[in-house]
Amino acid sequence: MKIAVIGGAGYIGSHVVCELLDFGHEVFVYDNLSSGLRQNLFKEASFMHGDILDIPKLNEFFEEFKPEGIVHLAALKAAGESMLLPEKYSTHNITGSLNILNAASKHGVKHIVFSSSAAVYGSPKYLPMDEKHPTEPENYYGYTKLAIEQYLEWYKKLKNINYASLRYFNAAGYDTKGRVSGLEQNPANLIPIVMEAAIGKRAFVSVFGNDYETPDGTGVRDYIHVSDLARAHRMAFDKLQKDGESFIVNLGVNSGSSVLEVIEATQRISGKKVNYQITDRRAGDTATVLANPAYAKDFLNWQAECSDLNTLLSTTWQAYLKNFVPYTPCSK
Ligand code: WQD
Repeated sequence: MKIAVIGGAGYIGSHVVCELLDFGHEVFVYDNLSSGLRQNLFKEASFMHGDILDIPKLNEFFEEFKPEGIVHLAALKAAGESMLLPEKYSTHNITGSLNILNAASKHGVKHIVFSSSAAVYGSPKYLPMDEKHPTEPENYYGYTKLAIEQYLEWYKKLKNINYASLRYFNAAGYDTKGRVSGLEQNPANLIPIVMEAAIGKRAFVSVFGNDYETPDGTGVRDYIHVSDLARAHRMAFDKLQKDGESFIVNLGVNSGSSVLEVIEATQRISGKKVNYQITDRRAGDTATVLANPAYAKDFLNWQAECSDLNTLLSTTWQAYLKNFVPYTPCSK
């Protein structure tokens, strides 16, 4: 299948490109490289440097490559920033997605796989969270993802564009074969921050609260390997092509790791000390977030295969080693 991966030079996007190429798809990447990296591009995939806000460029991309399907991962994703700069998130996430939907409609694209997020749910009302969980986003980033899902539903009804919306929980890890190694710049998520502390790029990790109702008092999250996520994108396309039915699915493992567990496991795997300080809770955070992946299993026949904490952290550490020489304090 000829598949456009919009945002395909990004952390998750490049893993999706890798998976689609592995399974013989013809892949075309469109990315503005604002956070995506040239080092994440694969020579086997065509690439066009462009922004989803540049409508003429976006249409040039569709005219040149004539994709049959789209994976749309291009978005801003910092929940905290979205509360300070909602205009930026409205423009990039919502307007950008509508530009893609309009181009897809104009060029007769019939299948779109959308990178959504567990942030559409807001704080858990019950755990683990299934697709029927109330969608009450508590940050503007989560709202943009929910709004785009609603546009997808309208374009399905009015323009017959079938969609699969994949609600990621906490994406982490790197390709086990080392084919992707671009690091997120100025990360806001826990695991890259812990890795920066381990490699010596950062003095310490701020642990945002240790008074949650969790076993060690720190936040527990459902970390899902990007390669497991990428496989779900490929399987979602297969399902859309085969059945033509649109769907929404949670992607997670239903097993959680706490902040301190991530720090301790990173120390064990890297052999490096990770300094940390307990600070106040971060606004908007919640104690525990876990996915119920039963529907993904029943409907897509998908389940996580490499999302154990050891694989998540060891593959990430290898990516950091490729980009940095670890700081080793000189012996006195
Ligand atoms: C994980 C845990 C923090 C940083 C966010 C988005 C969500 C999704 C995944 C895209 C929490 C703690 C973190 C730090 C810390 N993104 N933490 N110190 O908040 O679960 O979800 O990323 O879809 O939409 O909201 O991920 O990695 O920021 O935090 O203590 O320096 O680590 O409190 O318990 P989060 P996170």
